[in-house]
Amino acid sequence: MEHVRDIEREAIAEIAACSDERALDAVRVRYIGRKGQLTLVMRGIGQLPPEQRPAMGKAAGAAKAAVTRVLEERSAALKAKAAEQVKGVDATLPGRRYKAGRRHPLTLVTEEIVEIFAGMGFAVVEGPEVELEYYNFDALNMPSDHPARDERDTFYLREGVLLRTETSAVQIRTMERTSPPVRVISPGRCYRNDTPDATHFPVFHQVEGLYVDRGVNFADLKGVLSCFARQMFGSGMRVRFRPDFFPFTEPSAEYAFSCVVCGGKGCRVCKNTGWLEIGGSGMVDPEVFRHVGYDSEACSGYAFGMGIERIAMVKYGIDDIRLFYENDLRFIRQF
Ligand code: DAH
Repeated sequence: MEHVRDIEREAIAEIAACSDERALDAVRVRYIGRKGQLTLVMRGIGQLPPEQRPAMGKAAGAAKAAVTRVLEERSAALKAKAAEQVKGVDATLPGRRYKAGRRHPLTLVTEEIVEIFAGMGFAVVEGPEVELEYYNFDALNMPSDHPARDERDTFYLREGVLLRTETSAVQIRTMERTSPPVRVISPGRCYRNDTPDATHFPVFHQVEGLYVDRGVNFADLKGVLSCFARQMFGSGMRVRFRPDFFPFTEPSAEYAFSCVVCGGKGCRVCKNTGWLEIGGSGMVDPEVFRHVGYDSEACSGYAFGMGIERIAMVKYGIDDIRLFYENDLRFIRQF
């Protein structure tokens, strides 16, 4: 009888410690299941002397009833608690907004530029940002005393190694490993030792273009840039070329697009000129061909470069280049 009471006490203590239905089931099996402790006691009653059987039967029956009742109470309490928790969820509240990442405006513009040139048959090539002085300057026919080479303008890592100042370096690497025809563009990051202001930042992006084949001429260059301008900014775009100088092209020209804001009439954005300067271009200088082993009698080519920030600023009406690099989410989320 003492043993029966011990079992009952243990069972009730264990039930109280149960925090879910599964634990409760385990206790149920252990005490009143087919091989449960109380069940075994009740089965053993037949082996007792007859005079002890009624009392023992009564005690075991009472213990089983008590354990069963406590189990039911605990189960009901746990169910109520679970229901309470479900009630705590207000299904009428609006859902939590999913914070999606997005592409940076410079990435978006780069992708757009690449897509337009890809449509005109240009393949994309890339070159290293840590570049040899040879590719960035020497092979591009920049004289050794050219001011751009100065440490005040260019970040040198060590003698002869620098952070590229222009994607034009990729022209040389590309021509070195392929023979004409080549038709490539090369987008990427460039670095110059500039003090940041509204239009300068020490890191910026350019897209370089290069086409070398038999009989390529300046009209082809004008055609491809005009086509690009119209696809990027709309069919009304006009392109203006003016003589310029770059050591790696001859002749060289700077090019401008008609102002996307005023259409050429003159406004604050184009400083009343009606034109937005976009980049530099020209016919590849024979001296450059010599560096990569191309025969300038057999082929000719054009090259151009454009600033990606410049294009993005014009496209989105952004008046300060620094906005691209501050990572202010209020700015970035607009694109
Ligand atoms: N690399 C020049 C710059 O950074 C831009 C440029 C001018 C690229 C003329 C060219 C070119 O390919 O032919 O200002």
